Amino acid sequence: MHSRTVARMTEPGVARRPVSPAESSRANRRWWDADADSYLAEHGEFLGDSDLLWCPEGLREATAGLLGDVRGRRVLEVGCGAAAGSRWLVTQGARPVAMDLSAGMLRHASVLNEKTGIRAPLIQGDASELPFGAGHFDIAFTAFGAIPFVADSERVMREVFRVLRPGGRWVFSVTHPMRWIFLDDPGEGGLVAVHSYFDRRLYVEEDEHGEPTYVEQHRTVGDRVRELVAAGFTLLDIIEPEWPAGHDRIWGQWSPLRGRLFPGTAIFVTRKPNSG
Ligand SMILES: C[S@@+](CC[C@H](N)C(=O)[O-])C[C@H]1O[C@@H](n2cnc3c(N)ncnc32)[C@H](O)[C@@H]1O
Repeated sequence: MHSRTVARMTEPGVARRPVSPAESSRANRRWWDADADSYLAEHGEFLGDSDLLWCPEGLREATAGLLGDVRGRRVLEVGCGAAAGSRWLVTQGARPVAMDLSAGMLRHASVLNEKTGIRAPLIQGDASELPFGAGHFDIAFTAFGAIPFVADSERVMREVFRVLRPGGRWVFSVTHPMRWIFLDDPGEGGLVAVHSYFDRRLYVEEDEHGEPTYVEQHRTVGDRVRELVAAGFTLLDIIEPEWPAGHDRIWGQWSPLRGRLFPGTAIFVTRKPNSG
């Protein structure tokens, strides 16, 4: 759901290699700080000021109800961007905290808090090291935040598990893992498989000194299930939203052409067991 449409079309300045969590965090903070204005200029209207949109296919929490009953619940939004989802949760009677790594994104969130008069609490932090105590939240979620951009998503799963109370929900949307095999192209060029689905090496863009400037990781569907189970979660569902008739909006690599043929988003719906 990031705004780059050609990230995996070009290879100069691109490496497939490991990076440390610290390097990844530094690169992502800088990347999202630099990209925040253009991301929101391009997608802000579609995302809305106060709305929880799960994916470019346009599935909204108001109709999907994946978080369950949110009234009175303490909800953590991980990788909140401009925090439209958390503001919507405020209007539903929930008690959200919106967290993001990027000060640039949080600046937009703060401006929209003021503009709408719906004030979601904002916190800067890294999903790999959540700044909250154990069992603090009833629900955690993210729409395309953090998970694809960290070097170690297993660690994020463990962190979310820690901060949820027993019985709490963890719901997250990511690019559907099968998209990894294609170029990030919304047109015909994005219909041809060019990468291995099984290539889990990190995608790393580097500056002239070899310093990572953008990091993205891939997990197969099976990997995601295993990392959730290893963290202790019970998997309830994997939603693969279908491209709705009449929905013409192209978002990066997401387009009606591709969306009619194969899924672009996977939403994992999970729960921390009552005994966990
Ligand atoms: C594609 S945007 C999604 C933002 C928002 N959820 C939306 O739907 O527009 C990804 C967000 O994840 C944030 N992010 C990236 N790495 C993160 C990390 N390690 N911890 C917390 N947030 C992170 C970025 O700063 C960015 O705001």
